[in-house]
Amino acid sequence: MLARLAPPRVVNIADLRRLARGRLPRVVFDYIDGGAEDEVTMRENERVYDDVVLRPRGAVRPVDVDLTTTVLGTPLALPFALAPVGSTRLFWPHGEELAAKAAHAASTAYSLSTLSGTSVDDVRAASSGPLWYQLYLMGGHDVALKSIARARAAGASALMVTTDTAVAGMRERDLRNGIKALLGPMSIGKIRHGVQFLMKPAWFLGFLMDGGLMKFPNVVLEDGPMGYVDVGPALENAAVTWDDFRWIREVWGPGPIVAKGVHTGEDALRAIDAGADAVVVSNHGGRQLDGVAGTLRMLPEVVAAVDGRAEVLLDGGIRRGSDVVKALCLGAKAVLIGRAYAYGVGAGGEAGVTRAIEILRAEIVRTMKLLGCASTSELGPEFVDVPDSWLKGDVARLRS
Ligand code: GLV
Repeated sequence: MLARLAPPRVVNIADLRRLARGRLPRVVFDYIDGGAEDEVTMRENERVYDDVVLRPRGAVRPVDVDLTTTVLGTPLALPFALAPVGSTRLFWPHGEELAAKAAHAASTAYSLSTLSGTSVDDVRAASSGPLWYQLYLMGGHDVALKSIARARAAGASALMVTTDTAVAGMRERDLRNGIKALLGPMSIGKIRHGVQFLMKPAWFLGFLMDGGLMKFPNVVLEDGPMGYVDVGPALENAAVTWDDFRWIREVWGPGPIVAKGVHTGEDALRAIDAGADAVVVSNHGGRQLDGVAGTLRMLPEVVAAVDGRAEVLLDGGIRRGSDVVKALCLGAKAVLIGRAYAYGVGAGGEAGVTRAIEILRAEIVRTMKLLGCASTSELGPEFVDVPDSWLKGDVARLRS
């Protein structure tokens, strides 16, 4: 391990965040770190884990803990996979490729965002590991059709359709930092905001040597890959309805399809009705609708509504192995980590992602040994307590 990423400098995910903040220009760090409007939901995603308390079994001899699972038909060595994160290539040269490699080395899956700086073919060329593909309907059905075909040809084994982006969330930090001007064509604003880049010369050099992005090679429009400035308008024309979801289900074929962005039991049922094999309880890391509940808070409701008819995954706010354990106790099959590894990319490229995965893996193992539970498949609601104000009925049902 690189000394820079080893203890005592890096002990937990918060340490990776601190290193990423030091290395990245403000605009890039804030793109990872920030959320929508007042960031209430973003903070709540993390905070809500404090509401759930663990109920350990004592006097249990520690044994090897089994973390293996199978999610979306993919065998994984860990109960977490890497979530789709847009523009990872901005955080470190070839960011998507190196994140996929680190996931593969840890025997877990990497989800590639449609809004990546790297094509699905290049990610596949860099890593033969488990690959899932996140889809936005950018550019309309015809453009999506080609992107789905490319993902399938590249061996992506599951398609994750994001359902919470009717419009782009208002990320006020991005606006203040001039992200549009910086990543768009030459302008006065670009020069004004560009000082941020000059203040981080090591990052800036890497950015320039990597081609000084931003194009999105997975969204191929008539005149070539979509540019950064087109994202906002394109997203507004890309809202996915359940009818679109049914269409995507048909064109994707037999592989698992996932609805990512489910907040409620009712929506989970709509997703299943539209053909989803899995749902991700997600509020986009608090980057879309501010004011919705932390995802863990909604998990019991969704698990109860789904009632075993689909796999339930969760993302948002996971910074500790114990967070993963709590989500599994409340019925998630596995979780997706986003910022936790994105900080790792920003802090140290592939080694940073490897370190983030290792930190969470070690924390999960330790938490489970202290809980007195030898396998993630044995985790259940009996290992946690939730506040009375939560959906007691649903949690009680899970327990029965
Ligand atoms: C992309 O999905 C983002 O949240 O920026």
